[in-house]
Amino acid sequence: MSVHTTAVVGAGTMGNGIAHAFALHGYDATLIDLDESLLDDARSTIEENLSRQVDNDVITTADKTAALDRLAFTPNTPEGVASADLVVEAVPEAQEVKSEVFGTLDAYAPADAILASNTSSISITWIADQTDRPDQVIGMHFFNPVPVMTLIEVVRGQRTSDATFETVAGVADDLEKNPVEVEDYPGFVSNRILMPMINEAVFCVMEGVAEPEDIDTVMELGMNHPMGPLTLADFIGLDVCLHILEVLHEELGDDKYRPCPLLRRKVTAGQLGRKTGKGFFAYD
Ligand code: CAA
Repeated sequence: MSVHTTAVVGAGTMGNGIAHAFALHGYDATLIDLDESLLDDARSTIEENLSRQVDNDVITTADKTAALDRLAFTPNTPEGVASADLVVEAVPEAQEVKSEVFGTLDAYAPADAILASNTSSISITWIADQTDRPDQVIGMHFFNPVPVMTLIEVVRGQRTSDATFETVAGVADDLEKNPVEVEDYPGFVSNRILMPMINEAVFCVMEGVAEPEDIDTVMELGMNHPMGPLTLADFIGLDVCLHILEVLHEELGDDKYRPCPLLRRKVTAGQLGRKTGKGFFAYD
């Protein structure tokens, strides 16, 4: 099937980045969030990030204007998905929230629409089971910051059809991203490898192997990572990292994924990284 009209549910960091990418690459995109203040914030963030791309000569001012013209914002999910060919869900990572959202999407999106999830930790097979169209449900796992990062993990659930996979891989190409096909196992590929590295960096802090800035310097200069693992953990959110590690630990049943007690302690204390102004480092 061909995709022209998209909808993105959830106007947080990932949702606004995904809507930005769709609109910039010629798709009509409606961003949906029940919280209208988040929609206002998302509109300004997208405008700022498009301006940043204009300033960096990545896009022209005309591209920016055209992208903004293709965007719509609404708190009404049934209305927002009514004419969508592809819906991407980017709401918080809780099963009861996903279940409710996918029930609504299934009820109000056109019968042939594809329903994708940006989840980083919940099974696509389980999400598909919340709908009556499991063959049209798939994972589209984007990376933050979405306008810059060129990967999409395209996750096939147990019943995802080949047609759904091919359509979504084609959309990823249109977005100038690289779709990588991944099977539906906990953490997919990205977080199954990334989170143990971050967790090990936190163990290094807890055991006093080195100071946090020095641990990051080792990985930046020694391994050429753009950000050290502790800066990256703060960027992702320590609560998000902890949640993904808990899923890996529980679902794969291997103690190598056990979350470091220091990570849990920081989350309990509300030190969640950049978004709260303090994690392993302090932010203005
Ligand atoms: N929108 C548009 N452009 C943006 C942007 C945004 N949101 N954020 C950054 N940029 C642009 C900047 O303008 C800059 O452009 P130029 O090079 O043309 O000047 C470029 O991206 C680099 O940005 P900065 O100069 O601000 O800083 P930097 O060089 O340190 O790069 C970074 C920032 C791209 C975030 C880089 O540090 C990086 O790649 N870090 C690793 C990010 C990463 O690993 N993300 C994945 C997280 S895991 C995840 O998302 C999924 C999950 O399931 C947990």
